[in-house]
Amino acid sequence: MQKQILVTGGTGYIGSHTVVELQKAGFEVVIVDNLSNSKIEVLDAIEKISGVKPIFEKIDLDDKKATDHFFDQYTKIDAIIHFAAFKAVGESVQKPLEYYRNNLNSLMNLLDNMRRHAISNLVFSSSCTVYGQPDKLPVTEQTPRKPAESPYGNTKAISEDIMNDFCKVNASVNCLALRYFNPIGAHPSALIGELPVGVPGNLVPFITQTAAGLRKELSIFGDDYNTPDGTAVRDYINVVDLAGAHVVAINRLLNKKNKRNFEFFNIGTGNGVSVLELVKTFIEVTGVNLPYKIAPRRAGDIEKIWADTSLANTELGWKAEKSVAETLLSAWNWEKSVRGIK
Ligand code: UFG
Repeated sequence: MQKQILVTGGTGYIGSHTVVELQKAGFEVVIVDNLSNSKIEVLDAIEKISGVKPIFEKIDLDDKKATDHFFDQYTKIDAIIHFAAFKAVGESVQKPLEYYRNNLNSLMNLLDNMRRHAISNLVFSSSCTVYGQPDKLPVTEQTPRKPAESPYGNTKAISEDIMNDFCKVNASVNCLALRYFNPIGAHPSALIGELPVGVPGNLVPFITQTAAGLRKELSIFGDDYNTPDGTAVRDYINVVDLAGAHVVAINRLLNKKNKRNFEFFNIGTGNGVSVLELVKTFIEVTGVNLPYKIAPRRAGDIEKIWADTSLANTELGWKAEKSVAETLLSAWNWEKSVRGIK
């Protein structure tokens, strides 16, 4: 029988790409989203790609009553992927309570309903932000976590702790956290992608919006880091590759291949790429003019991080496949389709 997966935040950036990959793998998807940072039209785009419109319920998971009511109605859920969360690092500094309330309550409301309805499996969106600036690179899952730099980052660390503690006393519940590095790019169809509200805080949306003429120029934050070209280094992971990691994680839990009932994995490419390298690659693959300047460092940024992905490779049998060049091209194709640029 077709297994049913609840995807919270399924109309969002990573959520929508994961829904498509789940459908491709034969799962039935139910999306719950409050549409606070995404559009309902994403459902049509998903249908255009996969041929199937996912079931959708507009619910705020931080609303316990509404969440309980949802789970009372949907009784066939085999597993949950929990994306729904606030995710802007800078905003979280300004609105800590909103971030803690939303991100932590929604997780606890889900876990509570897993217990109430005997739903065994949860895949959770965590982040490499839990490592802070690691002392040694690349980071493995054994690399110690560091105190979070922002309330957003802290919600990811606390969420992992909540799942860990919950799993200790609920042996039938399995939680698997994926610690994403920097997700970028869009679906090759250019029908779904990242759609930030207002001025993008993240690098690639800012690049594509600048290339599209919406922004005057890109500021590269800092060129005096201890890196080969002085600009900060990250591990940029293609969003479709990342979506695929969720399908693998779901299969691991459904097939009871997990070794412990709380596990976590790094999901990146294993390669560090500097801001300047990324900018140059973008210009090269798209042939588009991209005005940029060097600006002061951004507060709270770390210097460099990239993943050791051995555990994901061996344990999950997952590996990132797409190059940064093709990923940047997909991001540009998406921006062009959003802006109606030929
Ligand atoms: N950058 C610029 N100019 C910009 C935007 C970003 O130079 O206009 C630089 C940043 O300073 C950083 C790099 O590009 O060096 C990447 O920045 P992003 O904002 O795209 O990504 P971050 O690495 O800062 O943040 C990401 C996720 C967060 C997560 C964090 C963990 O977006 O959710 O990684 O390190 F918390």
